[in-house]
Amino acid sequence: MLEANLLTKSYGNLQVLKDVSLVVEKHEIVSVVGASGAGKTTLLQILGSLLQPDSGKVLIDGNDLFSMGEKELSRFRNQQIGFVFQFHHLLPEFTAFENVCIPGYIAGAKKSVVEKKAQELLQLLDLLPRQHHKPSQLSGGEKQRVAIARALINNPSVILADEPSGNLDSQNQEELYRLFFSLREKFGHTFVIVTHDDHFAGMTDRMIRLQDGSITSA
Ligand SMILES: Nc1ncnc2c1ncn2[C@@H]1O[C@H](COP(=O)(O)OP(=O)(O)O)[C@@H](O)[C@H]1O
Ligand SMILES: [Mg+2]
Repeated sequence: MLEANLLTKSYGNLQVLKDVSLVVEKHEIVSVVGASGAGKTTLLQILGSLLQPDSGKVLIDGNDLFSMGEKELSRFRNQQIGFVFQFHHLLPEFTAFENVCIPGYIAGAKKSVVEKKAQELLQLLDLLPRQHHKPSQLSGGEKQRVAIARALINNPSVILADEPSGNLDSQNQEELYRLFFSLREKFGHTFVIVTHDDHFAGMTDRMIRLQDGSITSA
């Protein structure tokens, strides 16, 4: 369902990705590991169409991301790709509930449908009692769970997460990992997760290691 073909990306004369190709199947949870600076974030941003490669293609459900026009691509991104960042990137002036709903409103779904789905996700992620709090009033683990609910609101084809647990203590990390698996169980989501954590990477269906701009194991 997600396919990257011969991706290259350089910053000046630093070649970050050299002909990287990979395939992720539907319902898979794949981890991406590699040293700091190996190009993991760069790869994830290209897979999510947030960053343009110098060459190569990314296909999601057969859609060639970089052949779309800007408007079409932003709609596709909003509806088909969920992002979870290392630092939650929640909007500080909105509540947890509102943060989860916003991508749904942007997608143009009916307000009542979006809000019902948001409630369902907040309940599933154990956030109902905190839903009317703003990010500054939430713990790190809660903020990251809100960010996950937000990523899921439009039922995306794939969820891309960049070191989502990097900022959490070990207990919250463990809970977050379990969450990815139970979400897959419940909704059949597909995840690509960049992580530093070998323990978690070992739990995933498959580990992709980036080294010197290439994939060394898949
Ligand atoms: N916008 C940018 N401009 C120049 N160099 C960058 C930029 N983004 C990342 N890099 C460099 O590309 C390399 C890979 O970065 P990144 O993908 O963030 O690695 P990782 O996420 O694996 O730590 C690093 O050497 C980084 O300094
Ligand atoms: Mg990174």
